[in-house]
Amino acid sequence: MRKKIAAANWKMNKTFQEGTNLINEILGADIHLDNNQQVVFSVPFPYLMPIQEQIGGRSNFFVAAQNCHHKTSGAFTGETSVDMIASMGVQFCVVGHSERREYFAESNATIAEKVNLCLSKNITPIFCCGEPLAIREDEIQNDFVAVQLDESLFHLDQDAIQKVVIAYEPIWAIGTGKTASADQAQEMHAHLRSVLASKYGKDIANNISILYGGSVKGSNANELFSQPDVDGGLVGGASLVASEFIQIITALK
Ligand code: 13P
Repeated sequence: MRKKIAAANWKMNKTFQEGTNLINEILGADIHLDNNQQVVFSVPFPYLMPIQEQIGGRSNFFVAAQNCHHKTSGAFTGETSVDMIASMGVQFCVVGHSERREYFAESNATIAEKVNLCLSKNITPIFCCGEPLAIREDEIQNDFVAVQLDESLFHLDQDAIQKVVIAYEPIWAIGTGKTASADQAQEMHAHLRSVLASKYGKDIANNISILYGGSVKGSNANELFSQPDVDGGLVGGASLVASEFIQIITALK
């Protein structure tokens, strides 16, 4: 059965003290999670280890790196390798976020390399895809995301693809307060699953978690997450507020 996931993406926000306070508040809510439900905190690199320790043995809670480098090691000042992330016991890594694509010129090919490195170290890549506004206005978003999957994921074999979590984040909905409607999200998630099914078969496609990201809030999480192909969310702004993110976790079905 595919996992239902509430993933926080803090981006470049929160001091360390603010971050640990936030985690304390969220853990303090003592939310009951089923076996197939997970909460992931994608936090800045320096916080990975201490926040992982803060989470302790809670089996459904994890930390994630927000990025990794696409080479294994070497003279890349300021960068962090997958090996380094794995050596700290981190089990998830966000790859191909639209902000990385836009501000750091990451291509589908580079992101494919990151996916491979993560999988080689048993790190679950949270692979982000999604279209900019102009593509949505031209109504060619389905083809656009299919190419993103094709160029970054479809070299993977049947076993490997099932270890990837996909996050669909329409760029026009990120940080804008303009959420995709539940219908728009479901339509795209069903499309992504059908693209996966045409490459790997229906059973495998049904095994892959597809998260929605883009202005998810406590108030809309229930409706979004109750769509049949929406398996949770990747949440920016609202994940920085304990009460909001607690509501979002609670909305996991
Ligand atoms: P917001 O939830 O702030 O729109 O950000 C979404 C996002 O980019 C999560 O990765």
